[in-house]
Amino acid sequence: MKVVEGVYWVGTKDPGLRDFHSYTPYLGSSYNAYLVVGSKGAALVDTTKPHLFGDLVARVEKVIGDFSKLNYIVVNHNEPDHMGALAEAMRLAPGATVLATKKGVEGALKFFGSLPSERFQAVKAGDAVDLGGLSLQFLPTPMVHWPESMATLVPERRLALTNDAFGQHYTGEALFDDEAPREIILRELKKYYASIVDMVNPGPVKKAVAALKEFGPEIIAPSHGVIWRKGVKEVLDLYERWASGETLPKVTLIYDTMYGSTERMAQAVARWLEEEGLPVVVYKASVTDPQEYLADLLDSAGVAVGAPTMHNGIYPPVAFALEYLRHMSKRRRFGLGFGSYGWGGGAERDLSRYFSDAGIEEVGFWKAKFRPSTEDLEAGRALVREFAEKVKGGA
Ligand code: FEO
Repeated sequence: MKVVEGVYWVGTKDPGLRDFHSYTPYLGSSYNAYLVVGSKGAALVDTTKPHLFGDLVARVEKVIGDFSKLNYIVVNHNEPDHMGALAEAMRLAPGATVLATKKGVEGALKFFGSLPSERFQAVKAGDAVDLGGLSLQFLPTPMVHWPESMATLVPERRLALTNDAFGQHYTGEALFDDEAPREIILRELKKYYASIVDMVNPGPVKKAVAALKEFGPEIIAPSHGVIWRKGVKEVLDLYERWASGETLPKVTLIYDTMYGSTERMAQAVARWLEEEGLPVVVYKASVTDPQEYLADLLDSAGVAVGAPTMHNGIYPPVAFALEYLRHMSKRRRFGLGFGSYGWGGGAERDLSRYFSDAGIEEVGFWKAKFRPSTEDLEAGRALVREFAEKVKGGA
């Protein structure tokens, strides 16, 4: 499928994928690879997972006749969803030179163990490869999202092949963003950012976005999901905003429950937050794909967590959700805890530790023995009011 003159999508789709880094992409995903064809040579940018490689080969051969004609194979990133078929691609294209950042070359050689290192060439910022009428330039983007990550640019087409950056899990028929359901792809973009790209230090994202803005792409083609051509400015601005540390006056509430008491408390907290005029989105941890709550946590000034005590500690399904919080970029957030207990308690202590590790300012913990009494409800209402004021004021 043609992306623009001389550049083709030769990727693969994996609609049955339901386990991606333990997340559950409900639409599966695509592994986008691109073929850049000039008058003097052809380059394949990224590959796919090994079991889908035959599909990629067929798409390449549809354009250039024979896979062995490839002059270059670019490895933008070492993760196996994009590099998994590299060894086989090198075997089928014995004349192709493999291009990657220095760390990317080291990673590929280590991952496969037995590839001929003389076929690899490390590239750095500003390096260019002339394909005849079209060229490749390289923009290393370390820690967006791995140390060896880079984008490949085709300046003659104002095209940026950005690998995981700007990706989304989407496998519909659309190739471009303006052909896809907008609300879905923007939500998937945010889920992908929050769960894969966002890290404790957002500096590398800011740097990469600034470099891309300077390049001035007309098309951003990531390695998952649709290609951005209408929404280029929009997605660059969104990445810039998400990396800025901004939070909004809203609350993400994550809870779980054993016998329904903490669930009742979660319902009350959500109602009270609504009464305080705050938008709140509620997730039950054990039945929710983490990408969903991570997307909302990303820019929420308020984080409310409901967990009962189990074996003198926090209920494990909630601890699972909170582990992700520690990986996220630190920003000004306020935390509210709540939960029921049967005898000794312990969830409160564990939650405080999670909040502290995530840089979240804890407003308090509302607890109730077995079921919340009238007095417990009054105490909870007051604490939620205090929390809401902080979220509204501090966002
Ligand atoms: Fe799509 Fe980081 O791999």
